[in-house]
Amino acid sequence: MKIAFVDSGIGGLSVVAKTYEKKSGEFLYYADSDYMPYGALTETVLKDHLAKVTEKLLKADAKVIVLACNTATAVAIDYLRERYKEIAFVGTEPALKPALCFDGNILVLATPLTLKQKRFLRLTEEGKRQVIAPDCSRLAYLIERDYPDLTAAKRFLDNAVAPYLDCGIGAVVIGCTHYAYLEDYIQKNYRLRTVSGSAGVVRQLCRVAPDVCFGGEKLLRVKSGDESGQKLLEERAKFVCGVEVAPF
Ligand code: DGL
Repeated sequence: MKIAFVDSGIGGLSVVAKTYEKKSGEFLYYADSDYMPYGALTETVLKDHLAKVTEKLLKADAKVIVLACNTATAVAIDYLRERYKEIAFVGTEPALKPALCFDGNILVLATPLTLKQKRFLRLTEEGKRQVIAPDCSRLAYLIERDYPDLTAAKRFLDNAVAPYLDCGIGAVVIGCTHYAYLEDYIQKNYRLRTVSGSAGVVRQLCRVAPDVCFGGEKLLRVKSGDESGQKLLEERAKFVCGVEVAPF
């Protein structure tokens, strides 16, 4: 009985790292590199594909699946919950509510597909605050391609946010797990507060996962959707999470 994390690539490793800060255990991580970036897919393709990923993870003994990806959550979590009632799904959502605790407008960094989903639009309606969402369409791809060298990603982000930096921003919402790797840069370089949903994901995971999923050693079993990317994924997983890594 295992906990599995899914993302299009390395973004969700930032959620796994946060989980290991609180818990130990043998977790699975599926980096769906063949379908990266999720943010550029259609809803139908992403839903159908995530159903196939779920079947794979069921075969690998997953009992809880963490969609460590805002895009996958926004598009497919309701569908997956309905279709696979035997598994618990934990989602990752842009932390707009916590951002509303701060004065000022909210800058949301998320993929184009997340931004147009009902789940996201519902969140924005609650706050009565200006929500600014620049075009970040290439950002996850650049992070995935170059990590840990984030030079190109930083340049892209600088250009994307430049028009909004004087708009009275009270908080920046990290609405894509890949962007977690730019959180320090955003705080230091733009002198803005960031809010991320990953701590909430870990809390929810601890609530829903059976105790047998935790404990023992910290071992992360990883699989890349693209076989040629397996070794690189293992290196990156070790680097981000700082635990023992093996394939599954
Ligand atoms: N990491 C994913 C998210 O949180 C998406 C990246 C992608 O577009 O593949 O939305």
